[in-house]
This record gives sequence, C-alpha cells and structure tokens, in this order.
Amino acid sequence: MKFRTLAPVSQKPPCPPILGEESMLSNNWYRQVHRWQTHGSCDSVIFVHEEPGARFLANVNSSPRIGGQGGHPFDTMAADYDRQFTDSLIGRLMREAVWRQVDAKFREGDHVLEMNCGTGEDALHLARRGVQVLATDISTAMVEQVRTKTSISAFGDLIEARRMAWEDLNDLMGASVQFDGALSNFGGLNCVEDLREAARGLSRHIKLGGTVFLCIMGPRCPWEWGWYLGHGQAKKAFRRLRRGGVAWRGITIRYPSIRETERAFFPWFRLRRVTAIGALVPPSYVEGWAQRHPHLTTFLDRIERRFESHPFMTALADHYLLELERLP
Ligand SMILES: C[S@@+](CC[C@H](N)C(=O)[O-])C[C@H]1O[C@@H](n2cnc3c(N)ncnc32)[C@H](O)[C@@H]1O
Repeated sequence: MKFRTLAPVSQKPPCPPILGEESMLSNNWYRQVHRWQTHGSCDSVIFVHEEPGARFLANVNSSPRIGGQGGHPFDTMAADYDRQFTDSLIGRLMREAVWRQVDAKFREGDHVLEMNCGTGEDALHLARRGVQVLATDISTAMVEQVRTKTSISAFGDLIEARRMAWEDLNDLMGASVQFDGALSNFGGLNCVEDLREAARGLSRHIKLGGTVFLCIMGPRCPWEWGWYLGHGQAKKAFRRLRRGGVAWRGITIRYPSIRETERAFFPWFRLRRVTAIGALVPPSYVEGWAQRHPHLTTFLDRIERRFESHPFMTALADHYLLELERLP
C-alpha cells in the first residue's frame, strides 16, 4: 500500500481544488473522511482517498463551527430540523408509523446501530425503551444536536453519538463490532451513491438473524405529482424518476425502487416486510395543508396504517420502510 500525503491546506471542506493535481480524486472525497479531530478552536480533518494499491491523504485545517460554510449540506438544516420536520404533524405521523415496526423488533438490552441518525429522535426513542444505540451521521451539526439532546436526557447514557457516514462503515469500525440490528430512517440512504457498498459495509456489523430497518424515499409518489403539478412545477413533480438522481446542494439524491434496494442488500440481507410511509399521508412539504386539515390528515394516516403493507401502497409512498434480516 502506497501512502501519499498531500500538502496541508487551510480551506474548509468541501473544496475539491484543495487536492490540487489530485482533484480528480475529489469526486467522492467526502466518502473518505477518516478522522475528525478537534484541537481547541482549530479542527484537523484527514481526508483519505483509497484505490487499489494506493492511499492518498490530505490534511485539512477547518473550523468546526456548526452549519458553517463548506460543511455537509445537512449541517445547515440541523438546528431547525426538529421544528421543520420532527415536530410537524406529518413528521410525527410518519415517525410513529416507523416506530410501530421498529418497537416490535428491538428489545430492552439490544444494541442497535443507527445510521444517518439526524438529530437523534429515534435514538432517544429506542433508549427510552432500554435499547443501547450507536447513533451516527455524516453531518457534524446533526451529531452535535444528538449530543445536546442526550446530555439532558435521563436515557442519554444509552446513546453514543459519533460522526460517521455510510461510506465509512467498511473502514472505520473494527469488524468485531457487532450489533443486534440497525436503523436508517427517513432518507439517509437516498444520499448514498453505492447502495451495494453500503449493504456490504453494514453486513459486517450485524449479527446473523439481526434485523435492519431502512426507510427510503421511493421513486413514485402521486402526492408529489399532484402537489407540484397543481403548483405549475411539472419538472419538480417527476424529479424522482430522473435517471442518475437529482442534484441537491452539491450532493445527488437518488430514489431507488424497493426492488433495487432489495437486490443491493442481497445476499447479506433478506427482505421480510415492506411498509408504506406516506402513501396517503402527504410528504412533509405539504405540512401547511396538513395543518389546515388536521382531521383529514390523521384520517388518511389511519387508512394508510390499515393497508400499509399492500403492494399498491408501498409502491406509491413518499417513503418505504424495509425490514431486512441478516442472512448467514
Ligand atoms: C432526512 S435526514 C433523516 C434524519 C433522521 N434519520 C430522522 O429520522 O430524522 C437524513 C440524514 O441523513 C444524513 N446523511 C446524508 N448522507 C449521509 C451519508 N452518506 N452517511 C450518513 N448519513 C448521511 C444527513 O446528515 C441527515 O441527517
């Protein structure tokens, strides 16, 4: 293995030109963050790019300020995320639908890996039920939100918050770390380019027979079609069907079908169950409408829960929730 150290730079990531002649390596640069160290007011970030036979290191000095310019796109959303989504009517209905499935599987004493944990709502919910959680996210600001919440929660001791991306799963944790199950809620996997690599990485850390829940934005959402067509935004209405995904704040959001995700996770995982999350209940950006029609929204949720596993519902939902079993 060849190691090559690039010159230390003072700009904050993401900043492809900092890699100079190696800028061609920067396509997926954020996948290769290996360490994030804080030294007083100054941060040092080591980016590592690996390819067969070679490893490139770049040492970047950056400010750790939450949501600062140049962080992950979700950094800027962290402070307002709970107000915008978690505490909204739609957000609560959707999350409760996920919790009903998750609670049926994860028990007191279980150790669960949470990927793309956001502000830690699910981690806290699980901890309240006696489940131990390693809560991870690519966004430093999101992880800070989790730490703040756990520091004032009576159940915070059961949660460890760590900055880690899906793409780091293969590298960062020793293979010996094994969890009873895992959870990825509300679209973190839509931000991941290589689902198969994500599945392979996850498989190394889930005990045989363990359960994994993945809640992913699906490609066909009639609510979205109707909403944006009604607002004269035809392009946005069908954005999820675009091949290659949709560019969003410097990253690409992809909308894999249930079948594509199932295939990406095989042979390490087998699909046990699919649940519709937001087939009749509208997507979160329709919250204004939901606030004006709270009874209708909760009524739609009741009907949706009744038929939540019907293939028609799961194929046409804002999100689908997969329950997978780790295979030998
Ligand atoms: C819509 S939020 C969902 C957050 C949380 N799971 C929830 O239920 O509220 C998506 C999260 O995925 C995280 N994320 C995006 N890309 C990621 C990646 N490659 N690895 C890990 N987390 C990622 C974002 O930082 C963000 O916190």
